[in-house]
Formats: sequence, C-alpha cells, structure tokens
Amino acid sequence: MNFRGTLALIALLALSACAGVNHLPEGDSPGAQLVREKCTVCHGQPHPTRHTAQEWKHYLGLMEVHMKTRGIEFSSEEKKTVLAYLQRNASK
Ligand code: HEC
Repeated sequence: MNFRGTLALIALLALSACAGVNHLPEGDSPGAQLVREKCTVCHGQPHPTRHTAQEWKHYLGLMEVHMKTRGIEFSSEEKKTVLAYLQRNASK
C-alpha cells in the first residue's frame, strides 16, 4: 500500500473509533475498558465528564454497594483503576 493509502486507512480507522456510542477518553486504557465492561451491566455507560473528581469518589462508593448486592465482582484493584481513570478525566 502506498503512503496515501496508508493515511486514508488510518483516517478511516480513527473515524470509526470515534463513531462508537459514548466514546470514552483514553479509550484503550485499563480504566476505560473496566468502565465499558463493569459499569454497563446495570445502566448506560457513564462518561467521566459527567461528574467531578469529588463526585466520582462518592458515586463509586455507591456503585460498589450496588455491585455487592447484585453479586457482581469488583475488586479493590479494579475500583482503584476505575476511580483514578474517572477522576483523571472528570469535569472540573
Ligand atoms: C449492580 C448494578 C450497577 C453497576 C454494576 C453500576 N451501577 Fe451505577 N447505578 C446503579 C443504580 C441502581 C443507580 C441509580 C442510583 C442509585 O440508586 O444509586 C446508579 C447510578 C449511577 C450514577 C449516578 C447517576 C448518573 O448517571 O450520574 C453514576 C454516576 C453511576 N451509577 C456510575 C457507575 C459507574 C462508574 C459504574 C462502574 C464502576 C457503575 N455505575 C456500575 C447500579 C449500578
């Protein structure tokens, strides 16, 4: 494939990645993957900018209780990763 073709392909891939529903920042990071995987079991995928860093700490505590009640596995390691991810990308 020539250089232009490669560029076109990259542009196309970038476009299709952004066309996804509710595109997450740092899409390939462990935090984003966990949010896609764990947080969509009960409701739509929450976007990090929906809340501030302070609010995320509060909400994640609530979600932990919800998950425990429903018997969904959410380790403290996963919680740490998700919280750090959400806070890093939270609204200011
Ligand atoms: C076991 C089910 C369950 C899972 C899994 C779950 N939630 Fe929730 N979530 C709820 C329920 C139920 C509510 C409604 C409010 C309430 O009762 O606390 C809610 C509400 C919320 C809210 C507040 C309303 C809003 O949309 O701003 C946020 C934020 C939230 N969830 C984030 C998350 C995140 C982040 C995760 C993943 C770490 C997650 N939830 C995983 C059950 C769940």
